[in-house]
This record gives sequence, structure tokens and C-alpha cells, in this order.
Amino acid sequence: MSTSIRHAEPGLTVAGVVGAGLMGRGIAAVLARHGIEVRLFDIDASALAAAVDALAAQGLPVRAVRSLDEVAWGADFVTEAIAENLTVKQSVFAQLDAADAHAVLATNTSVLPVTSIAERTSRPDRVVGTHWWNPPDLIPVVEVVRGDRTADAVVDATVARLTALGKLAVRVEKDVPGFVGNRIQHALWREAIALVHEGICDAQTVDLVVRNTIGLRLAEMGPIQNADYVGLDLTLAIHDAVLPAINRDPGPSPLLRRLVAAGRLGAKTGEGFLQWGPGERDAAASRLAAHVRTQLSERARGATPRAEEKETA
Ligand SMILES: NC(=O)c1ccc[n+]([C@@H]2O[C@H](COP(=O)([O-])OP(=O)(O)OC[C@H]3O[C@@H](n4cnc5c(N)ncnc54)[C@H](O)[C@@H]3O)[C@@H](O)[C@H]2O)c1
Repeated sequence: MSTSIRHAEPGLTVAGVVGAGLMGRGIAAVLARHGIEVRLFDIDASALAAAVDALAAQGLPVRAVRSLDEVAWGADFVTEAIAENLTVKQSVFAQLDAADAHAVLATNTSVLPVTSIAERTSRPDRVVGTHWWNPPDLIPVVEVVRGDRTADAVVDATVARLTALGKLAVRVEKDVPGFVGNRIQHALWREAIALVHEGICDAQTVDLVVRNTIGLRLAEMGPIQNADYVGLDLTLAIHDAVLPAINRDPGPSPLLRRLVAAGRLGAKTGEGFLQWGPGERDAAASRLAAHVRTQLSERARGATPRAEEKETA
């Protein structure tokens, strides 16, 4: 499919970011750090001002703009990072589409179909998923998701541009809910919550076991390499025995629904599965960022070719 993208090569001079919350602010920081002119828009003027101030404090200039037209007009690449709501995202993409005929339009949705987000645009071929992970300036992978109508050239240009920004851009060839990472993550979350709901162990024990077993291993050896490493015959025997026993409910846990209905939303309300005192959420965020930084610098020091980068099944 042919497209009229302004820069099919990594060249990226002007970028727009819609949504100045947690993710939009972090994505804007990565772009600005690479010398790209960044226009930032948020429907909430105070969120926009706070983000621009926070970025300026890090020496990162971004331009606050007052409309979607200003974000998109003449930009090479626009990323949306607003609320996870399909109708709102569709409306934003329709407006971005009407404002400029050339920019690649990317959505940071975590789980919504890229194809549906593009539905109200005149050019769904230039809409692509770019799923960044939090914290966006630290986590290496960005999943580049092909919608049903995304052009090959748009996927290729997006991968090239993200690579030029220092990200590990991976291609997700089908527009499935949760892409790759969130499918795996929430398969684990579902079982974690089920273990608590079924009274097999308490919430603290789930985290303690994960952090001190697979959590220690996964950043070094992923599940596919681990299956090969222990032997696929053993993996098959384990799956024969355990898969029939683990949770496969098609919807969220009743325990999770009960907590949310009771207003126990986690750190932001002071109580979820666990109790959260004042300042504990920020402290957890700092510890997490420090941990990720340490792992990445260790990895950079001892870099060796990795099995999953050499072999494909
Ligand atoms: N938080 C994460 O860990 C994470 C990770 C990956 C992807 N995402 C996805 O990124 C997106 C943003 O998530 P977040 O955590 O940054 O949310 P957030 O609530 O921190 O920020 C969203 C921002 O979007 C603004 N906004 C809402 N509607 C808007 C509109 N119509 N026009 C302009 N601005 C609007 C809000 O005012 C807010 O400042 C969501 O789609 C989410 O699923 C989040």
C-alpha cells in the first residue's frame, strides 16, 4: 500500500504528543532528549502546564499547544497518550487526521484495537500502535502494532524511528488485545489474584514468591528460552499436570470487582490488596526506577549475544 509519509527514513524533526499525563510526559521527554521539536497538548490545562514545567526542570524543551490542529499540523509523527477510552481516542484521531494529511498517527493504547481507534480517520493506513511501557524513558521495548489497515511503510518507518530514539522496537503483526507484553503480564496477574481469592496464600505471599523466584530470572531468561533450557519434555509434563488446575476465567476476578466496588483502588486510595501509607506510592516508584536502571546498566556492562535474538522457531 502506498503512503505519503513525510519521512520514511528515521528522520524525525517535529513530533506531537497528545496527553501530558504519566506516559505522554515520558514519551515527550524521550523525543525532546533526541533534539526533536515536541508539541504537547492536554485537554487539562493544569496537567499540561505541570508537564511542561517538569520537563523544563530536566532541561527538556517542549512547546505547549492549545489544540489538536496545532499538534498535528506539519508534524512528522504524533503519539496519543490520553485516557484508555475507545470513543475518546476515535474522536482525537479523527481530529488529528483532519488537521494534517501526512503525519504518522500513533496510539499508546494498552489494550484497545488499533484498527478501531483508526476507524473514524480517512487514512487508517497511517495509524499504528506504539505501546510504550512505564516508565517510558527507561523500559527499552516499544511494541509496534500493525492495525488491520496499517501500511507496511508506516510500520517500517515507526520501527526505524523508535530504534533511532534508542528504543527496542518490536513488531506485533496482529492487532490482538494486549499485544504481546500485556497478554503475558495479565495471564500472570489473573493467576496471582486467583491464588488470593481461593485462599491458597495471602496477597503478600504472592508477591514475595514472584519477586524471589521467576522475578529474579525473567529479566535474564524469558519463558521461551527457559522452556528450551529446562527441556521441552519437562515443560510438556508440567503443562499436562498444571494447566488444567490454573485459573482460566474469561473475565476479571470477583475479588478484584469487589475491591473496586468498595473503593479499595490500591495506592491511590491507601488500600487495595495491601495497605499504602502516605508517600509509599512515590517511594515504590523510585525503587522501581532505580531497580530498572541498575538492571539495564548491568546488562550494558556484560552484553553478550542472546539466544532469542539469534534463533527463531
Ligand atoms: N500508565 C501506564 O503504565 C501505561 C503503560 C502503557 C500504556 N498506557 C496507556 O497510555 C495512555 C495514557 O495513560 P497514562 O497512564 O499516561 O494516563 P494519565 O491519566 O496519566 O494521563 C492521561 C492524560 O490525558 C489527558 N486527556 C484525556 N482526554 C484527553 C483528550 N481528549 N485530549 C487531550 N488530552 C486528554 C488527561 O487530562 C491526562 O492528563 C492510556 O491509553 C494507557 O492505557 C499506560
